[in-house]
Amino acid sequence: MYLQLISLHGLVRGENIEMGRDADTGGQVRYVVELARHLAQFPEVSQVDLFTRRLKDKKLDDIYSEEIEDLGENCRIVRLPCGGGKYYRKERLWPYVDEFVDNMIAFTQNEGRTPTIVHGHYADAGYIAREVASVFDVPFIFTGHSLGKPKLDYLLEEGWSREKANDILAIDHRIQVEQECLAAADLVVTSTRHERDTQYSKYHRDEDLRIEVIPPGTDLDRFFPYYEYDLDAQNISDEFKQARMRMQNGIKRFFFHPDRPMILALCRPDRRKNIQALIRAYGKSKELQAIANLAILAGIRDDIETMADNEREVLTDMLLLMDRFDLYGKMAIPKQHDSEFEVPELYRLAASGRGIFANTAFIELFGLTFIESSATGLPFVGTENGGPQDIIENCKSGIIVDVNDEKALTDSMLTLLTDEEKWDEASSNGVNLVRQHYAWETHCENFLSCIKEVVADPVKTPSASGRIAPGTRLGSLDAMLITDIDNTLLGDDQALRTLLQLLHDEKLRFGFGVASGRALELIEEVLVDYEINEIDVVIGSVGSEIYYGREYVADRGWAGRLKHKWYPDRIRESLCELEFLSLQTGPTTQREFKISYDLDDTVDPDEALEQIHEVLDQTRSAYSLIFSHGTYVDILPHRASKGKAIRYLSQKWNMPLERIATAGDSGNDFDMLTGQTAGIVVGNHDEELVTLKDSPHRIYFADGHCAHGLLEGLQHYGLLKPSVTEPVS
Ligand code: GLC
Ligand code: MG
Repeated sequence: MYLQLISLHGLVRGENIEMGRDADTGGQVRYVVELARHLAQFPEVSQVDLFTRRLKDKKLDDIYSEEIEDLGENCRIVRLPCGGGKYYRKERLWPYVDEFVDNMIAFTQNEGRTPTIVHGHYADAGYIAREVASVFDVPFIFTGHSLGKPKLDYLLEEGWSREKANDILAIDHRIQVEQECLAAADLVVTSTRHERDTQYSKYHRDEDLRIEVIPPGTDLDRFFPYYEYDLDAQNISDEFKQARMRMQNGIKRFFFHPDRPMILALCRPDRRKNIQALIRAYGKSKELQAIANLAILAGIRDDIETMADNEREVLTDMLLLMDRFDLYGKMAIPKQHDSEFEVPELYRLAASGRGIFANTAFIELFGLTFIESSATGLPFVGTENGGPQDIIENCKSGIIVDVNDEKALTDSMLTLLTDEEKWDEASSNGVNLVRQHYAWETHCENFLSCIKEVVADPVKTPSASGRIAPGTRLGSLDAMLITDIDNTLLGDDQALRTLLQLLHDEKLRFGFGVASGRALELIEEVLVDYEINEIDVVIGSVGSEIYYGREYVADRGWAGRLKHKWYPDRIRESLCELEFLSLQTGPTTQREFKISYDLDDTVDPDEALEQIHEVLDQTRSAYSLIFSHGTYVDILPHRASKGKAIRYLSQKWNMPLERIATAGDSGNDFDMLTGQTAGIVVGNHDEELVTLKDSPHRIYFADGHCAHGLLEGLQHYGLLKPSVTEPVS
């Protein structure tokens, strides 16, 4: 199996993950890296690639700009360009996801192997995975990690407006994409039953949508039991030991009685983590204060005053509560800790002193901290809302409560801190049962057995472009012809029939496409009229649109590129003043990326074109102007033209330009004839193409007209077997 995982945003690297460096680099990043590494160790898995965004940003480590980072044998991080090198938060990446899709397809084509599945993590990568999977006709797996709808509900409750949520978080778009992912997914993986039943239930779901609860694994090498310090300390690395000393000393200085058990809380400074509830419960209970200290590690901070509003508020509240209940000498609020070595040591320090872990978040979707603390043998008291319900059932390593019930919270903490037997039982349950339920091996075994079943079924959303996905089809071709329609493909019916027969016979190795000034609707008419049923690519509206197969699936990557500096309103407005231009009126002539005019035949075209350019330059939009048949004036985005569309296809589908024959008769075919393609100009060509006769490019001027000229050209280049082409002439 070749598994492709995608996790687009944040800072993804194999070593020393920069957990918490920003809001996008957290649990998900660690999850996907661990998942990739562990999956690669299974014998049935031949390769795992974890795809992410390539970053080239002075503020960041160089590793993020490397295309390939090895994560071990058969396992790599692959970084692909997406929206330039600058780091953006995930909500700002939406405009660039199609670029990533293209790059991932091109990368995969180049590798020469089809993925077994494509697995997208979070909505952004879900979008990409869905597109790539459909191109190769393989199953699409989706893991949401967190979802937009519940988040929006929460924000609205917090007093946000929907406009604000859209401005800052593009939340409606995210929800829309999530909905589309659920519609297309062959398998959805969630971490908890709660996530499946309450989060995903807010979306429309097909009855046959397969959702599997497969909790993530824990890094048991880091979260080993606390007692190893007493029993097996020589096997513990110095990095852990040094981290332990740092944490011990860092916390000790806060306490009057450092030897008392510790109630440890560890979370981001986020309102939803509800740290106040814990401080209040502790602050109000003289008993708790008498038997235990409280240590809260709420993120990493330097100067509270310069932190983001929401984080500053949480930390300020924390300090005010500490003051209100006069918890000096009993409550520690260290400023710094790292997640790699210091966090596991914090748990172990607390466990060594027979303390507890506390997490009073309103909701924990998964509850990774519960599992990690349990793995080290530190019992927990925490929220009953969300994932911890599964954890308590599987591991029996703590107590879950309604965190709004202060008495229940205090009582549970007291129970574990005073009842030695209960503490011992919860502690050893945690160590033993986390190994059983939350090991990466277990996770991967479950995941792979689902994958095998999914792969055996036909994919739910096969590529819409016909029986064979364009990725599989275009990737397998040896060469292809892309031809203009009017006066090139059409015009000689008999030669056309010969050509079509030939294309049909050579179908397995030879592809066929058209590139026309016509819009898709008018191209379709031609294909129907002439019974042309086998087509791989349609380039329409002078190269401003690309479609695949007879289902005409639009290439969104192409459309995405054309938006750059395209200001159609300005262009139309400014060209109004030129009297020799009249806007074409046919129903399909004006497109999103094409504005077309007819030029008055009373003016000199050269002078007219000069004037048009002058006017257009003032609009400061990046356009390209294509003039054909002495009368048509097409204005397109600067990145569009038939030739550019073909170069794009060549790169995306990994087909060398030399293997693509292009054919045309007029000015709008110009740039698909120049360049490395095998250009063919038909005998009946327009004056506009005469200059190409002196061009240094590979261009064959056929004697034959229309399809006859095409056959001649293909034979000239040896792209179709001569024996088959012989009968022509
Ligand atoms: C087709 C289109 C027209 C365009 C012309 C030249 O006739 O319908 O809009 O201007 O090709 O590209
Ligand atoms: Mg033509």
